Amino acid sequence: MSVCPAPRQGPAPLPSARGPVSAALLAALRQPPYDLPAGLGAELAAVADPLTDEDLQLTLFLCYELHYRGWRGVDEGWEWQPTLLALRARAERPVEAALRRLAGPLPAVLPGGVPRALAELVAADDGPSLAAALQRRASLAQFREFVAHRSVYHLREADPHSWALPRLDGPAKAALVEIQMDEYGNGRLDRMHAELFRLTMARLGLDPAYGAHVDRAPAVTLATNNIISLFGLHRRLRGALLGHLAAFEMTSSLPNRRYGNGLRRLGLDEVATRFYDEHVQADAVHEQIAAHDLCGGLVAAEPALAADVLFGAAAALAVDRLFAAHLLDSWAAGTSSLRPAAAPVPAVAHAAVVAAPPLSAPAGLPAVA
Ligand SMILES: [Fe+2]
Ligand SMILES: [Fe+2]
Repeated sequence: MSVCPAPRQGPAPLPSARGPVSAALLAALRQPPYDLPAGLGAELAAVADPLTDEDLQLTLFLCYELHYRGWRGVDEGWEWQPTLLALRARAERPVEAALRRLAGPLPAVLPGGVPRALAELVAADDGPSLAAALQRRASLAQFREFVAHRSVYHLREADPHSWALPRLDGPAKAALVEIQMDEYGNGRLDRMHAELFRLTMARLGLDPAYGAHVDRAPAVTLATNNIISLFGLHRRLRGALLGHLAAFEMTSSLPNRRYGNGLRRLGLDEVATRFYDEHVQADAVHEQIAAHDLCGGLVAAEPALAADVLFGAAAALAVDRLFAAHLLDSWAAGTSSLRPAAAPVPAVAHAAVVAAPPLSAPAGLPAVA
C-alpha cells in the first residue's frame, strides 16, 4: 500500500504565542541559543489552573517538542540550553502539583495488588463519554475537530512512552517492547499507528503533517500530551509513565470501536476507520500486558513505585476527563472546541497524500484546499 508519498514528518511549524511567557520563549527560539532572562516564567508558579492555562501549557509544549521532532527553523542547540531547561522546570512544577491534587488520595496497595488497583481506577472513572457522543451524534465538523485535537498525540503515537525503555529492565521492559512493537507497526511503515492516523486525517480533509494542528489545540489538549512528556522525561516518574500507559490501554478498546462506528455513521470508508478498528483488537491485548506484565513487572522489581503507577493512571484518567468535558461543553454551547485562528483548520497542503482524494468539506466547515 502506498501510504504517504510526501509526508511531512516534522519539524513542526511554530505556533503563535498565548501569553507573555510563551511569547518570550517563541522570540528566543527564533534566535540562536542564548541565556534567557533569569526568572523568565516565574509567574507560572501562581497560575490559577495550570492544566488549562494557555500560556503555561504552550510554554511547556514548546520546551518538550525540542526532544521530539523539533520546531521548524529553530536551532537544535536549544534542546539542552540550561536556561531553557530552568524555564521548563518552572513550568513543570505547578503542573505536577496540579496533577497530584487532581489524582487525589490513592489507595495504598501492595505491589501484587497493582493490576487490580488499576482495573478499579479505570472502572470507577465516571467521566463524560466523548466516545458515545462521537459514535451517536457528533457532526462531521465535530469529528474533524476531535481528530485535529488528537493529532497532536497520534502523529507521534507511542513516542512519549518509549522514554521508559532505557529506564527499565527484565519483564517490564519486555512487556513495553511488546506493546510498542505493535504501536510502531512491527517495523512496517504502513502499519505504524501514526501512519494509520495520517490516513484518517487525510480522508477527513485534514492536513496530516506533523504538528499542523498544535496552534489550534487548546491548553487542555496540550496538557494531555505534556503530562506524558513530563512523566517520560524524568526518570523519577517512570512509575507514573507506565501507569499512564496502562490507563491509556485499559480505556482504549471500546472507545475506539465507538470512534470507528461514528465515522461509519458519517459515511466514511474503511481507510478512514482503519486506525480505530486496529485499536479495538490491539488494545484489548495491550491492556492485559500493560496492567499485569508491564506495571506488575515494574513494581515486582521496584515495589516503592506502586504508588506512582497508580498516580500516573489516575492523572491520565483525570486529564482525559477534562479534555472530554471541554469538547462536549463546547459543542453543547454551539461553539468550536478548537482555538480560534486566523486560518481555518489546516487542510491537506500537499497533493497525493493518499491514493484517494480527501473528503470534500460540507458547507460551513473550514475550507479544504
Ligand atoms: Fe496505537
Ligand atoms: Fe495500544
